[in-house]
Amino acid sequence: MSDRIVSPGAEGIPEQVFDQTLRPRVLAEYIGQDQVKKNLSIFMQAAKKRTDVLEHVLLYGPPGLGKTTLANIIAHEMGVGIKTTSGPAIERAGDLAAILTNLNEGDVLFIDEIHRLNRIAEEYLYPAMEDYRLDIITGKGPSARTFRIDLPRFTVIGATTRIGLLTSALRDRFGVVYHLNFYSPDDCTEIVERSAKILKIQIDHDAAVEIGKRSRGTARISNRLLKRVRDFAEVEHEGHITHDIAKQALSDLLVDELGLDEIDHRILHAIIEKYQGGPVGVETLAATIAQESDTIEDVYEPFLLQIGFLIRTPRGRMVTRAAYEHLGIQFREREVSKQERLPL
Ligand SMILES: Nc1ncnc2c1ncn2[C@@H]1O[C@H](COP(=O)(O)OP(=O)(O)OP(=O)(O)O)[C@@H](O)[C@H]1O
Ligand SMILES: [Mg+2]
Repeated sequence: MSDRIVSPGAEGIPEQVFDQTLRPRVLAEYIGQDQVKKNLSIFMQAAKKRTDVLEHVLLYGPPGLGKTTLANIIAHEMGVGIKTTSGPAIERAGDLAAILTNLNEGDVLFIDEIHRLNRIAEEYLYPAMEDYRLDIITGKGPSARTFRIDLPRFTVIGATTRIGLLTSALRDRFGVVYHLNFYSPDDCTEIVERSAKILKIQIDHDAAVEIGKRSRGTARISNRLLKRVRDFAEVEHEGHITHDIAKQALSDLLVDELGLDEIDHRILHAIIEKYQGGPVGVETLAATIAQESDTIEDVYEPFLLQIGFLIRTPRGRMVTRAAYEHLGIQFREREVSKQERLPL
């Protein structure tokens, strides 16, 4: 993935360290997502009251909204341990067995990118989730043997950016499913101010508002922009971030008033200029702007859909009038040819 400023991917070690420092540890520090927090809090209290293990939890939503953070908070609030793995890291049944047999009663097993779990691992996971047992098959044909391993009771927390790629069998094994939404600009401002405090960065409120507004509704981007703007402020303003410094820095970083960056602009311009506003298939679009189609679907598109700049049609993505206006391009209602018209 490119190192675009608003890229919400957690690539690179320093970024990860940064993420960790700023990661809220308890639910009360977790900003926004009020509905999810409320439900989760009741659900955790009820489990504690019954001295029961928490049901399996599935968290989904675009990158950088706080899925990993929330999984860690849940374990912390429940007072249990957490082991972290990811879909692609579990290649064979043995990998899963090694992790599961190391859990303590009540622990959380966090499986990131759970949509990338392979089928075999998934089949092994089912009885583990349902009955806390593993049935390991060794050998082949008539000499095949099944070993049953009893496991401690535990909670799987799965995270995914692509709920649509999960098999329904797997999805059904989660007692609760929470969708994380994009944060409001106010939430992002709060995130910026909280992080500034932790990092001992001086920032004026209107500067935090400016960064919050341009964070694409994504917590990780709020933090990342704060860090970049701080660099500017250090060089040009002894570290204090004023509104002017923030605005200047953000515009130098090619982040526009809505938080859209160069790649968002390339996506919109490509659809408008090369495909008359769409519809265009995501694969074609990806090839046109030389980006991975998965990256477009996971990272860029959700926010453009959210702010109503893109719409998805059965024939592909289309740019809306609002996007034309934002880009200052004259909107022309598109003649939809006969072949393109969907059957009624
Ligand atoms: N609700 C929140 N309040 C404050 N900060 C948050 C919140 N959610 C996330 N963050 C910050 O954003 C960063 C990214 O969050 P996190 O790593 O949990 O995202 P994610 O959804 O797991 O992303 P990915 O899909 O890329 O794994 C965290 O390090 C944390 O500092
Ligand atoms: Mg994560």
